[in-house]
Amino acid sequence: MIAPFGVYVHIPFCAHRCDYCDFATWTDRDHLVDDYVAACIDDLRGRATPPATSVFFGGGTPSLLAADRLVAILDAIERAPGCEVTVECNPDSVDAAKFARYAAAGVDRVSLGAQSFVPHVLRSLNRTHDPGNVAAAIGWAREAGIERINVDVIYGTVGESLDDWRRSVDAVLELGVTHVSAYALTVEPATPLGRAVAEGGAGAPDDDDQADKYVIVDDLLAAAGLENYEVSNWAVPGAECRHNVLYWTMGEYVAIGCAGHGHTAGARWWNVRTPERYIARIGAGRAPESGREELDAGGRAEEAFTLALRTRWGAPIGPLAAPAATALADLTEARLVEATGGRVRLTRAGRLLASDVTARLLLSGIAVAPGPAPRDPGTPAPGVGAGTRYH
Ligand SMILES: C[S@@+](CC[C@H](N)C(=O)[O-])C[C@H]1O[C@@H](n2cnc3c(N)ncnc32)[C@H](O)[C@@H]1O
Ligand code: SF4
Repeated sequence: MIAPFGVYVHIPFCAHRCDYCDFATWTDRDHLVDDYVAACIDDLRGRATPPATSVFFGGGTPSLLAADRLVAILDAIERAPGCEVTVECNPDSVDAAKFARYAAAGVDRVSLGAQSFVPHVLRSLNRTHDPGNVAAAIGWAREAGIERINVDVIYGTVGESLDDWRRSVDAVLELGVTHVSAYALTVEPATPLGRAVAEGGAGAPDDDDQADKYVIVDDLLAAAGLENYEVSNWAVPGAECRHNVLYWTMGEYVAIGCAGHGHTAGARWWNVRTPERYIARIGAGRAPESGREELDAGGRAEEAFTLALRTRWGAPIGPLAAPAATALADLTEARLVEATGGRVRLTRAGRLLASDVTARLLLSGIAVAPGPAPRDPGTPAPGVGAGTRYH
C-alpha cells in the first residue's frame, strides 16, 4: 500500500472579507492571481515529493480562481491512484461548468462554506450569500459526479437562538451531504468582529449557549447517520476527509502557497504569509519557508496524543505511571473519557471540554510515542492515534 502523503495548496483570495475570519486571505489582490498560480506550479515542480494520496485546496476561497487555473496547479501534483482531491468553495463563486471542469481534472470532494441557513444569522456574520445558493452548488457538484460533499457551519453567533441553530442543522440534513464540519464561532482579535467585541460594540459568544448547540448538532447529525469522528467533524462512515485525518494522525504533507503549513521528516514548517512574498521567493529560486520547528520525541508524543484524542479512535495509552493512572481514573469517573482496548477516547461531555481534558492528561505524563497512522480512517490500525479548524 502507498504511504499516505498530502499536499495542501493555499489560495489566499476572497471576494469579500467576513467579519469573523482571520485566515490568510485578501480581497484586493486579483492582480496577483496569475503570478501566484505560476509560483505554486514552480514550487511544486521544484520539489521531489511522493505521489499524493490527498490534495486539499484551502483558503481563502479556492473556487474564486478560474477553474483552469486551479486545474493547472492540480495537474502539477503527482497523484497516487484514488487520490482524494478537495476544493474549498464559497457558494457564491461556483457554477455547473466550474464543477464539471473540477471533476474532469480529478476533484472528487468539495467543501462548501454555508455557516448558517438563517438570514439574520448570516447577516450578523457579514456573509453575502443567499442560503439557496448552497443547495444549487450541491446540485451542480452532484451533476458533475462529485458526491463527497462537506458543508461548514458555524454556531454561537450572538442573536442566534437554539431554534435558529436547529433550523440550520435541519437545512444541512435536507441537503443529504455525507460530511459536516460545525465550528463554534471564535472571536479572533485581529478581525472586525474581534475589534467590535473588544470595543464593546458587539457581544461575545456565550460558552453555555455554544455547548447547548454542540449537543444539538451532535444529536441531530448522529440520528441521521453522521458519526462524530473529530470534535468538530461528522461523516457518514467511509466519508471522512482523508486529508484531515492525515493531519490528525501526524501524517506527512507539504504546503504550497503562502501561509501554508507542512509536516515532513519530523518537522513542522510554514511558508511566508503574504502572496507577494511567496511570489518573490519562488521567483528568486528560494524556498518559501519562513519558519520551522523540529519536535523532540517528547514533543511529538504530546502532539500526537493531543490530535488523536480529538478523534473517535482516541489516543493509545501504554502502561501508566501513578499520576497518569490517577488522572485517567478521575476523568473516567467524571465521564469525560473512556479507556478501553489500550486507548483513551473523549465522551461527548469530554469533547465539550477537550482542551481542559487534554491538558490534564498531558500534565499527568500519559502521552506515549505515536504509532503508524491509520490507512483507512474508518478502521484505524490498533495502537494508533488520529480541532481546531483545519482547512
Ligand atoms: C477558509 S474557510 C473556507 C470556506 C470559504 N472561504 C467560505 O467561507 O465559504 C473555512 C471555514 O472556517 C470556518 N471559520 C472561519 N473563521 C471562523 C471563526 N472565526 N470561527 C469559527 N469558524 C470559522 C468557516 O466555517 C469556514 O467555512
Ligand atoms: S470565511 Fe471564507 S469567504 Fe469569508 S473571509 Fe474567510 S476564507 Fe474568505
